[in-house]
Amino acid sequence: MNKNFISLAVISTLLASASAAIAAPDWSKVPKKDILLFHPGVTPIEWATKKAEHSGSTAIKKGETCAGCHDEKGKLSLDFKRLAGKELEPKGAPKTLSFPVGVQAAYDATSLYLRLTFKSPDGGADPADKENEVKANVMFANDKVPQGDLVGCWATCHQDARTMPGADDKKLKYVKDGAYDLMQWKSAKGAKAADGTVTDKRAMDGGKADARAEGSKSGDTYTVTFTRKLAGGVAMGEGKAIPFGIAIHADHATGRFHHVSFGYKLGIGSEGDVKAIRF
Ligand code: HEC
Repeated sequence: MNKNFISLAVISTLLASASAAIAAPDWSKVPKKDILLFHPGVTPIEWATKKAEHSGSTAIKKGETCAGCHDEKGKLSLDFKRLAGKELEPKGAPKTLSFPVGVQAAYDATSLYLRLTFKSPDGGADPADKENEVKANVMFANDKVPQGDLVGCWATCHQDARTMPGADDKKLKYVKDGAYDLMQWKSAKGAKAADGTVTDKRAMDGGKADARAEGSKSGDTYTVTFTRKLAGGVAMGEGKAIPFGIAIHADHATGRFHHVSFGYKLGIGSEGDVKAIRF
């Protein structure tokens, strides 16, 4: 093998890995929407839909969204004292109960690109994940999820799932009907992004949308970029609005000790709380 041939081989390998990386849009041209995440305490779907626990349950039945009551023009209308108190948080709440995540979205003929920018707060209540300081998660509901367009990720959040008080440590999150796509980025060096699903159980791989993720930290700000195919898994086409939710495990948190968003809609070239623009 002569020298030129070797360097050509090296260059083509480099090119191949560069094209495997996320072909991101020019993010400076993509509008950013701030979505507030919050510590939800122990408020699974059973709690949220039970009249004796939550007066919002009646309106959910009539088609009101969680965000419709609790997100007032970008400010959360929630009783944070209650969310950090013993009634809804028996184990202890993180110091920071709420923080914003900048959300940007774009798409081309085949793929969706979703970028999250956030400062991940310290002072977690349950730093059980020794490997990852931060995990960023996005879920999309398909149209078979009961009230999937109203309740965000809550349809997967059950009182008998692991890390809930008294629950089986092996019981993963699940949904009674329909399915979610789940993508996850982990901050540990060399960690693989998850391309997963939530059906009758959660699976961190086997997703059909070829989800990938890249992330970095600059100063105290994390930037995580996800990409996935529009087709495959929860089908996303131009003109559709897809229900989604965001969760971030800050400060080595696991399981339910994440900060979560209510459910929002991602408009693929259509109306939505976050509008993905074509590039
Ligand atoms: C009709 C408006 C309405 C809707 C829709 C609604 N809620 Fe509520 N929610 C309330 C009110 C009012 C309270 C205050 C306590 C109460 O009255 O039960 C509350 C309380 C809460 C709390 C406890 C913190 C607090 O402020 O007391 C959480 C968490 C919560 N809701 C989550 C949800 C989720 C998740 C959904 C959707 C699955 C949802 N809510 C839908 C009105 C609503």
